[in-house]
Amino acid sequence: MIRDSYNRMHNYLRISLTDNCNLRCFYCMPEEEYEFAPASKLMQKDEIDELAKIFVSLGVNKIRLTGGEPLVRKDAAEIIKTLSKLPVKLTLTTNGSRLHEFVDILDESGVHSLNISLDTLQPERFQLITRRDQFKRVFDNIQMLLKRGFHVKVNMVVMKGLNDSEINDFVEWTKREPVHVRFIEFMPFSGNRWASNKVVTMQQILDTVSEKYEVERLQDEKHDTAKGYRVPGHLGTFAIISTMSANFCGDCNRIRLTADGKMKNCLFAEKETDLLTALRSGIDVVPLIHQNIRGKAKELGGQFTTDFEHLHPEEIHNRSMITIGG
Ligand code: 5AD
Ligand code: SF4
Repeated sequence: MIRDSYNRMHNYLRISLTDNCNLRCFYCMPEEEYEFAPASKLMQKDEIDELAKIFVSLGVNKIRLTGGEPLVRKDAAEIIKTLSKLPVKLTLTTNGSRLHEFVDILDESGVHSLNISLDTLQPERFQLITRRDQFKRVFDNIQMLLKRGFHVKVNMVVMKGLNDSEINDFVEWTKREPVHVRFIEFMPFSGNRWASNKVVTMQQILDTVSEKYEVERLQDEKHDTAKGYRVPGHLGTFAIISTMSANFCGDCNRIRLTADGKMKNCLFAEKETDLLTALRSGIDVVPLIHQNIRGKAKELGGQFTTDFEHLHPEEIHNRSMITIGG
């Protein structure tokens, strides 16, 4: 078991397969010219498998693959197939643009629930946010997965003045389709143009939805980062991930592994433990894993608090989102 100094059990591992992506979302990639990590610096397929097995032996029973965009990695299909043999619930967070190529592999590997990032339902705005013309592809892929019976969660990062006018369009979408929309409060990362006045809080999101719909609170599952809701009669649901205004760190069970093999005990942790170099040098990584988790801060990597109005993003020492993996 991997337990931290606050007695939190860690059984959920998020593995980033690559820091590369075929989209260019401004809130995720740093503004300056970004260079993707060279392949030799990334965990190789066998190394991912080996590290995953070590984590499983320590009690991990859920693994999520992230990126960048996990499905741009050339051997993504093989990695999915290999990891699906482990006794874990395997899931994926993707931008959705390649799902038409992967749907059968996911199906065969037992991955029937996945998170897809989509911040707008308007093609022109999609181009503005991602700097790529891929709206139709992503939207069609979501529809295809829903038709095939997958459990689809759509991640929508709410940013004031950019896409907050679409909150109720997303809720309206849940009326006709069994889609699970998750509104995410905008979080600060290196070089992502975050400012406190661009955050739309959970309360503001709820107020907006309540102006138009009756809202019913759902029972959350243990360790859920999202607070769930439903409009009575709608096929789908919506939820809010309130990292900024009401964090859920007290119940955190998450461990992260970056594509270059560094372990992070929190999305906002400054400290990293280089498991890949240790593995390559034949050093036992188990004590390193325990040591890393023992140093886990109580909340938000110990870098800020819910009083985010006064937060200046440059005070936070971290990577950009694309190199962490969400
Ligand atoms: N704030 C909130 N959510 C973010 N994501 C990426 N960057 C941010 C940010 N700055 C989301 C993506 C993806 C998930 C892994 O995290 O939209 O769905
Ligand atoms: Fe790519 Fe996702 Fe980052 Fe956008 S948020 S650049 S889709 S990894």
